[in-house]
Amino acid sequence: MAKAWPMAQTENHSKEEHGGQQERQFAKVNEIIALYEADESALIPILQKVQEEYRYLPEEILTYIATALGISPATVYGVATFYAQFSLDPLGKYVVRVCDGTACHVRRSQAVLDAIRKKVGLASGEKTTQDLGFTVETVSCLGACGLAPVVMINDHVYGNMTPEAITEILDTLEKREGDAK
Ligand code: FES
Repeated sequence: MAKAWPMAQTENHSKEEHGGQQERQFAKVNEIIALYEADESALIPILQKVQEEYRYLPEEILTYIATALGISPATVYGVATFYAQFSLDPLGKYVVRVCDGTACHVRRSQAVLDAIRKKVGLASGEKTTQDLGFTVETVSCLGACGLAPVVMINDHVYGNMTPEAITEILDTLEKREGDAK
């Protein structure tokens, strides 16, 4: 069953609620760390699992992981910022990757990107929608050049995209989210 989209925290959350959330937050991280027996050589899989859980790597959790593994926060930050798969900013429920490699570019990937940004309502310079529904980014090649232009939404690859086709796909996703609420 689809989960509801996470909402940005509202100011009227009480401190108690916030404290409770934090405890739950670290309880999940503890579970992940225990899964790898707090082994520092498992830092990358630990970060991957934490990101799967939160959809990004919150700063306080990186520091917590460093303490739990007995390594420096700088080491954890170094790994988290080195690999493109990790994000230190919250990502949307749907991460839309638009290929802008050569094959896709010549087949008008820019028009597809423009249509996506317009459809989800991203202002210039923004990467993630305010409601954390969508993150939109470009990548250099998704390895499916024969299907150019290509868009990937989470783990699903869509080939031969046009502005109209991607708009319909996003319509379907938005409708699915609306129905799940
Ligand atoms: S250039 Fe877009 S998939 Fe390769």
